[in-house]
Amino acid sequence: MDIHVISAFPQILAGALGESMLKRAQDRQIARIFLHDLRAFGIGKHKQIDDYSYGGGAGMILKPEPIFACVESVRKQHQVDCALTYLTPAGKVFKQKDAVELSFRKQLFFLCGHYKGVDQRVLDQLVGEELSIGDYVLTGGEIAALAVVDAVVRLLPGVLNDIDSADTDSFQTGLLDHPHYTRPEVFRGVGVPEVLLSGDHQAVQRWRDEKSIEITRQKRTDLYEKYIEL
Ligand code: ADE
Repeated sequence: MDIHVISAFPQILAGALGESMLKRAQDRQIARIFLHDLRAFGIGKHKQIDDYSYGGGAGMILKPEPIFACVESVRKQHQVDCALTYLTPAGKVFKQKDAVELSFRKQLFFLCGHYKGVDQRVLDQLVGEELSIGDYVLTGGEIAALAVVDAVVRLLPGVLNDIDSADTDSFQTGLLDHPHYTRPEVFRGVGVPEVLLSGDHQAVQRWRDEKSIEITRQKRTDLYEKYIEL
C-alpha cells in the first residue's frame, strides 16, 4: 500500500512513523509512506502557506495555492489517483470498520489541516472524503492522520505477528478485549486466574469470551447493545 500525507508539519508524523509497527511495515515494504511538506509549495520568499480569514475573526487559514500545487504534484509524480481525504472534526467519525475498509485500498492520500482549517475551495474542488477521529478539536490533522494510518497499517497482512493478530482485536469482534496476564504468576499477592494455567484451550476460550462480553457490558453499553442485537 502507498500512503501519501500532505502536512505543514511533517515532522509530527515522521517520529511516529519511524517506530514500532509503522516502521516494521515500511521495513518489510508492506506500506510505503510518503510525507509531503506543504511549506515546499509556499508562496514567495517566505514560503507563505497561511493567511487571514476573509470577513475577519481569529485564526489563520491554509491558502489554496500551495495545497493545489502540492496535491497536483503528488498526483503527477507518484501516479496517485485515489480520493483525497481531509482530516477534520467535521468529517465522518473513523471506526474500526473504516480501518478495515481502507486496509483493502492500494493508495491512500491524506491532507492535514492546521490552524483554523483550509480555504473552502480546497474542500470543494480537491477533497473527496472527510474523516474525524472523534468529537474534539486538535491543533491540526497530523495526529488524526497518524491515528488513521496506524489503525490501517497494522491490519495489512505481515505487519503483526500471529501472536498479536488483528482478528481478536477489540472492536474487530464487536466486543472489548478480555483481560490478559503475563509472568509472574503471582504479583504482589495477586495470582493469575486458574483457568489460564489449566492448559485446557476450550476452557480458556470460554473464559475469554465471557470476560469480553462482561467487560463490554460494563464499560461500553452502546457496543454491548449492538452485540446482543446481532
Ligand atoms: N483536526 C482537528 N481535530 C480533528 C479531529 N478530531 N479529527 C480529525 N482531524 C482533526
